[in-house]
Amino acid sequence: MADQPSRGLADVVAASTALSDIDGRAGRLFYRGYDIHELAGGATFEEIAYLLQRGSPPGAGDLAAYREELAKGRSLGALVRENLERVARSQSPMEAMRTFVSLASADDPDKDSNAPDANLRKAARLVAQQPLLVAAYHAARTNSPLVPADPGLATAANFLLQMRGEPATAREAEILDTCLVLHADHTMNASTFAARVCAATLSDMHSAIVAAIGTLRGPLHGGANEQVMLTLAQIRSQSPQDPVAAVAAEVRRRLGRGDKIMGFGHRVYKTEDPRATHLRELAGELAQSSGDETYYRMSRRMEEVVHAEKGLYPNVDFFAATVYHCLKIPTDLFTPVFSMSRMAGWTAHVMEQHADNRLIRPDSEYIGERGLTWTPLGQG
Ligand code: ACO
Repeated sequence: MADQPSRGLADVVAASTALSDIDGRAGRLFYRGYDIHELAGGATFEEIAYLLQRGSPPGAGDLAAYREELAKGRSLGALVRENLERVARSQSPMEAMRTFVSLASADDPDKDSNAPDANLRKAARLVAQQPLLVAAYHAARTNSPLVPADPGLATAANFLLQMRGEPATAREAEILDTCLVLHADHTMNASTFAARVCAATLSDMHSAIVAAIGTLRGPLHGGANEQVMLTLAQIRSQSPQDPVAAVAAEVRRRLGRGDKIMGFGHRVYKTEDPRATHLRELAGELAQSSGDETYYRMSRRMEEVVHAEKGLYPNVDFFAATVYHCLKIPTDLFTPVFSMSRMAGWTAHVMEQHADNRLIRPDSEYIGERGLTWTPLGQG
């Protein structure tokens, strides 16, 4: 008989990785040894994607070449183009992302190879394509023309240009870039684990990413950022006179009902998520410059109440909601925006898994009946 399982694999070390490391008690996060507090605002998303995918920080020439590779990779394959409008009409954003990545694999010249050089090229193309897929989806569903990509712009600025149809300010682009840095990798989170399980069968990178996108979608994982915004908006619409004051009663009502408050709690962090520290600051800055600090003030109040009631801290998804809202990103695109960043980590994990592979196949504890006798139909 197998040992008792750890529910949800809590505290189980499921893989070795050199990509990221969390100290849950101290609230620290590192990408390949670099502290997230140094990287947030100190490194660009392209540098981080390079660091994760290729193992060390890029020099100036490497970065220029990588940025060029990403700019060239911003193109939709034929199968995505042919199905874009139909998918945009009939699938929600994360369903569409799952479909598009699957369709995109058909047009990837390296689709049939898991060789390290082919995987590196696919990894760069996937990072390049994901923001384009989000923007193209949004354009198609709103019957708007997709603004052409600007090869001179980095990922964040180009995404805001294509998604909003007009250029972002330099500071807006910088803030989204920091968000992408903060979300790029996070040890054995559920979507990364799903990607690694798939990759460990020696399946291909696109299949692993499709598994990851489907996993990120859930509200207990990346889907929480959208739920945070919906909660804030609901409280605001119910109490338009003083939504900040209404937060406490609504949080207590939900907790009393046994609901979870989205954007709070974490399996690994026992203190503040270091990513939330930066996102809180960015949310405050953007809210102030937008002239409407309501959601930010509501969020600060919610933080106080949830901590007082449950001792829980905000996770990465909580303040990301206000940041994305202030960046005029539609609420249902919040999780796809998360996927644009996590693509860097997922692809790096697939390559790490392929480089030193063993099938991931845990055991299970059997809790069903035993020793039953089968009676063929008609003989009972
Ligand atoms: N609101 C209210 N109570 C909570 C919350 C929350 N957000 N999170 C945990 N708790 C409570 C649980 O009800 C449980 O209480 P109990 O012991 O009295 O039953 C206890 O804390 C432990 O909770 P679990 O769900 O068992 O903790 P777990 O480690 O499995 O879950 C998770 C972590 C999924 C993140 C959880 O905190 C949660 O559901 N949070 C809300 C969803 C969310 O924000 N997800 C995004 C996470 S970050 C990311 O994935 C990018």
